[in-house]
Order: sequence, then structure tokens, then C-alpha cells
Amino acid sequence: MSSEEAPGAKHSEAYWRRHARRYDRVTLFLNRRFPRLAARVARDLKGRGPVLELAAGTGLVTQALLETVHGLVATDRSEAMLETLRNRFQSSGVVVRPEDALSIGSPAASFDAVVAANVLHLLSQPSTMLREAHRVLQPGGLLAVPTFAHGETLLSRFVSRLLSLTGLAVTSRFAGRKLSELVQKAGFTVLSDELIPGILPIRYVLGRKGTSD
Ligand SMILES: C[S@@+](CC[C@H](N)C(=O)[O-])C[C@H]1O[C@@H](n2cnc3c(N)ncnc32)[C@H](O)[C@@H]1O
Repeated sequence: MSSEEAPGAKHSEAYWRRHARRYDRVTLFLNRRFPRLAARVARDLKGRGPVLELAAGTGLVTQALLETVHGLVATDRSEAMLETLRNRFQSSGVVVRPEDALSIGSPAASFDAVVAANVLHLLSQPSTMLREAHRVLQPGGLLAVPTFAHGETLLSRFVSRLLSLTGLAVTSRFAGRKLSELVQKAGFTVLSDELIPGILPIRYVLGRKGTSD
């Protein structure tokens, strides 16, 4: 581990290495509307490019984005997830590369859209990721951050505790408008904030870089 690596990175890598293979099954169980959500994100970003996906995981959202955007770059910090992405998207035109969502290696204003699905609740500093996304977006660029809302219902709070027992380090149990407030504070105009119900509900916040007209 380099001295610059974020605290918790090693723990997170071990967790995703253990869970990468069953991730899709568990995710679809926790929220069976996930495929519809992924299609919705893809529709909202239709025609956009280049598009940066942070924390792409096994590529559940990447698969949907592939149909509607161009210049898609799918990234993650976990080597296990990157391997899955490389296998799934070889010869698809998707560029797969390692990236820490808290410190993006791209220059300012280099993307037309940034997607970061289901990662903000795992970060020690979610606002740092949002500021980084803001930096690499062109003015008017879109940010899509659908995020598991562990604090939304009694059931989700209970399931969240169970997931913690498996080693998942949840740092924010989002509920209500908390996520859209964070997005707004990072300099985005919130275009929509929807709750996708499920055993583990998902808050889908879509923002645009810049203030409203
Ligand atoms: C719950 S999964 C979400 C995967 C995918 N976006 C989805 O919605 O199915 C969380 C992902 O975040 C990644 N991750 C966690 N911290 C990260 C960071 N600082 N930078 C990049 N990826 C990170 C993990 O490796 C894992 O693949």
C-alpha cells in the first residue's frame, strides 16, 4: 500500500475481492428494480460523451450505458472488480481503467457526464468525490449518483446492520433529501431526486454542473 492510499482502501479491496462473484445476485435481491434503474440512468444520459463511470463494480450500470452514450470510461479501485469489467466488456469499446473516485486522474472539464452508482454511501468523504466529479465535468455536464439509501426505512436500516456484519463498511445511511443536499453543496443544480423502493431502496439524484437558468 502506498503512503498516499486512502485509509480503508485495503479493507475495501479485500471485501470486494471476496464478494465480486456474488455481487450481481445480491444486488438484484436487495433491489429488484435495479435493471430498470440502470436503464433509466442510460436514458437520462442518452447521446452524452465522453462519459466517466466511477466505482463501476461488475458493470451492471455500464452495460446499460453502453447502449446510449459514447466514449464510455468505466473505472473502479478494486482489482477484482476491474478484472470482472475487463472480462465483461472486452471488445465492446468501453475503456476500463483503475481510478480512485476520491482523486480522479483526469484534467478539469474533460467529461460530459459522470456516473457514480452506489458508492457515495461507502466513502469516508462523499463530498470529496462530488467535488472531483464537478472538477472533471464540462459546464452543463450531468452527474448521475443513484445510491443505496440505507437509512430510508426500518427494513433498510435492519438490512444495513446485517450487511455490516459481512464486512461492508457503510459510512453514510442516506435518507430523505440528504443526498441531494450534498450534491447541491458541491455546486450542482439538482434536476431530480427519486426514491426507487426495494428491500434496500435507492435514491437516484441527477444533477447538472452549474446553477439553474
Ligand atoms: C456497491 S459497489 C457498486 C458497483 C456499481 N456501481 C453498481 O451500482 O452496481 C461499490 C463499488 O465501489 C468501489 N469503490 C469503493 N471505494 C472506491 C473508491 N474510493 N474509488 C473507486 N471505487 C471505489 C468498490 O470497489 C465497488 O466496486
